[in-house]
Amino acid sequence: MNQETNNPGTPASPEAKIHKRRPRYSGRNPRHFHEKYKELQAEKHPDIAAKILAGGKTLAGTHRPICVPEILEILHPKPGDIALDATLGFGGHAAEILRAIQPGGKLLGMDVDPIELPKTEARLRSLLQDPQALVVRRSNFAGAARFINEEGFQGMDVILADLGLSSMQIDNPERGFTFKFDGPLDLRMNPQKGEPASAYLQKVGPETLASILVENSDEPYADAIATAIVEARERNPIHNTKRLSAIIHDCLKSMKRNDADVQSSQRRVFQALRIEVNDEFGALETFLRNLPSCLKAGGRAAILTFHSGEDRRVKKSFQNGQREGIYQEIADDIIRPSAEEVRSNPRASSAKLRWAIKASDSL
Ligand SMILES: C[S@@+](CC[C@H](N)C(=O)[O-])C[C@H]1O[C@@H](n2cnc3c(N)ncnc32)[C@H](O)[C@@H]1O
Repeated sequence: MNQETNNPGTPASPEAKIHKRRPRYSGRNPRHFHEKYKELQAEKHPDIAAKILAGGKTLAGTHRPICVPEILEILHPKPGDIALDATLGFGGHAAEILRAIQPGGKLLGMDVDPIELPKTEARLRSLLQDPQALVVRRSNFAGAARFINEEGFQGMDVILADLGLSSMQIDNPERGFTFKFDGPLDLRMNPQKGEPASAYLQKVGPETLASILVENSDEPYADAIATAIVEARERNPIHNTKRLSAIIHDCLKSMKRNDADVQSSQRRVFQALRIEVNDEFGALETFLRNLPSCLKAGGRAAILTFHSGEDRRVKKSFQNGQREGIYQEIADDIIRPSAEEVRSNPRASSAKLRWAIKASDSL
């Protein structure tokens, strides 16, 4: 008989019983995402979770919803309402809306991210007594009108879109969204679709790249950075986030820029590439164009944006809609998170909120 085979009924081999300890991170606090296993199981480590939140940080694997009281005041969801959350993320806003529309209400939820969405759906379902109260679809919000129609609705009472990335996406180095950690240069919210930023950078021409850096992120050193990227990729394809950030660093340092300028350009280049590989402006424009047909007469929409390219588009669309009589009322000005919110969650600092109410005599 093979010596290594365990017979049923006999004890497992001594080797199989040895419990392997997880390697301890060096230093006092974990620095890398994969070392943050206590944060990732916050319910088992409430003291650690409380300390991290008190320090103005977001727990790894979670997202803190922004401007919640302001959004609830604007959207005013009430029992029986039909609502769309076009960007479910971690489901923080969705949970609040779901609570407000029960009993009798229904929330349609969308997100493009196939990695986070199943976890978010499970989390939201665990809050529900009525399973029919939530319908989740992995889809781009450019397809919101079709989703609403296919669920048998003419329009929504309430629509929320909270644009950009969730903290789970930013913090996971495997997703390649940030220059702060090394990881594959991917930057896709749906890694099953389209091409990663590394493939895009391999083929884009220097003029196109420079114009994208300007259009998507107002990058002041766009020409120099685009040239540096194209020269570097000719020597070796750019597969990793750290390599791209090093190319931008070296380019700006050769122009005698300081560390703060370097970091700002690194952030803007990553943002510009992310907008491009996810066609974020295309999706937002389609969503805004279809928004009136997604709302009931008198229905309310709120959109949270995180940079000027997004806010400009929302502002223009709402203003045009009001001029044409589609919206009866729109936000006069942007609403910002309170100073207290920004202090406790610095990721809220760039958020801008706008809202619109569809005219009650509009079809
Ligand atoms: C800022 S997070 C939303 C956070 C959410 N409000 C919460 O409370 O947890 C943005 C989410 O929108 C998703 N997203 C971005 N663009 C999208 C699009 N065009 N269609 C659908 N989802 C999108 C991202 O995948 C991400 O999960």
